[in-house]
Amino acid sequence: MQKNSSKNTQDRVVFITGASSGIGYALCEEYLRQGWNVIGLARDDTKIPNETIDNPKFEFVKTDLSNFDSSKLIIDEVFKKNANISTFILNAGIYIPDSLNDFNFENAKATFDTNVLSIYLSIELIKKNFELNSNYTLAIMSSTAGYKGLPKSFLYGPSKAALINLAEAIKSEMHDNLNVKLICPGFVETPATKVNSFKMPYLMSPKDAARIIYSKIYKKGFEISFPFPFNSIMKFGKVLPYKLYFKITEKKFSKK
Ligand SMILES: NC(=O)c1ccc[n+]([C@@H]2O[C@H](COP(=O)([O-])OP(=O)(O)OC[C@H]3O[C@@H](n4cnc5c(N)ncnc54)[C@H](OP(=O)(O)O)[C@@H]3O)[C@@H](O)[C@H]2O)c1
Repeated sequence: MQKNSSKNTQDRVVFITGASSGIGYALCEEYLRQGWNVIGLARDDTKIPNETIDNPKFEFVKTDLSNFDSSKLIIDEVFKKNANISTFILNAGIYIPDSLNDFNFENAKATFDTNVLSIYLSIELIKKNFELNSNYTLAIMSSTAGYKGLPKSFLYGPSKAALINLAEAIKSEMHDNLNVKLICPGFVETPATKVNSFKMPYLMSPKDAARIIYSKIYKKGFEISFPFPFNSIMKFGKVLPYKLYFKITEKKFSKK
C-alpha cells in the first residue's frame, strides 16, 4: 500500500514544523529532493541555508508554536491558503536536560507547551481545514525516550510518551481512514543533542534520519522507529517487569 506516494510529487505539499534545523530541516531537504512543495514552520529562518530559502518550492512560516494565540492565527491562514497540503509532519520540539534535582516548573511548561500542546493546536487546525481521509498523512515526532521513564529525563521523556499515546489514540480511531505515523528516532546529531555530555549510542545524522522517515512514511505500518538495534533495546524496556527495569537503570545510570 502506498498512500500519498512519491508519484506525481510535483504538486504535492508537505507541512513540516521545526523546519529550521536538525531532523525537520533534513526532512525539508529530503521532500524538496523528492519533488514536493514544502511549507516549513519555525521561529528562526536565519538558520536555513539561502539555497533552501530561495527555492521556489519552499515556503517558510515564522511562528513561535508556544505562543498559542499568534500561532493559531498564522497556521490557520497557512492551511486556508494551501488546501493542497496532504502531509503534516508535527516535528517541532525542545529538549531541556533535567532531573528530579534540577527541574523547575518553567522548563516543564516550556517543554509541554512546545512538545505536546502545540501538537494539539496543529491537529485542531488540521481538522478544521481539511476533511481527513486516507489520502492524508499525519506524522507525529516522538522519540524512543518516550517508551519508558528514564533517569535524567524528567520533562522530555514524559512529553514524548504523551505523543506516543496521542498517536496511538488517533490511529485507533482512524485506522486506515488516515495515514497516521508515529516517529520514534533514537539519537540524532542535531543542535538539540549537542548539549548531551554523554556518549550517545548509535548516533546518526539528520540526513539519514530524514531518508529513513521518507522511505517509510507512505508505506504500511504505524511506527517509524530507528536505528536498529537501539530502538529494540529501548522497546525491550517497555515489556520488562518494573523490578527488573529499575534494577537495570540503577546499574547503568547510578554511576555518573
Ligand atoms: N535529535 C534527536 O536525537 C532526537 C531523537 C528523537 C526525537 N527527536 C525529536 O525530533 C524533533 C526535532 O528535534 P531535533 O533534534 O531536530 O532538534 P533541533 O535541531 O533543535 O530542531 C528543533 C526544531 O523545532 C523548532 N522549534 C523549537 N521550538 C519551537 C517553537 N516554540 N516554535 C516553533 N518552532 C520551534 C526549532 O526551530 P526554531 O528554534 O527556529 O524555532 C527547530 O527547527 C523534536 O521533536 C525532537 O524531540 C530528536
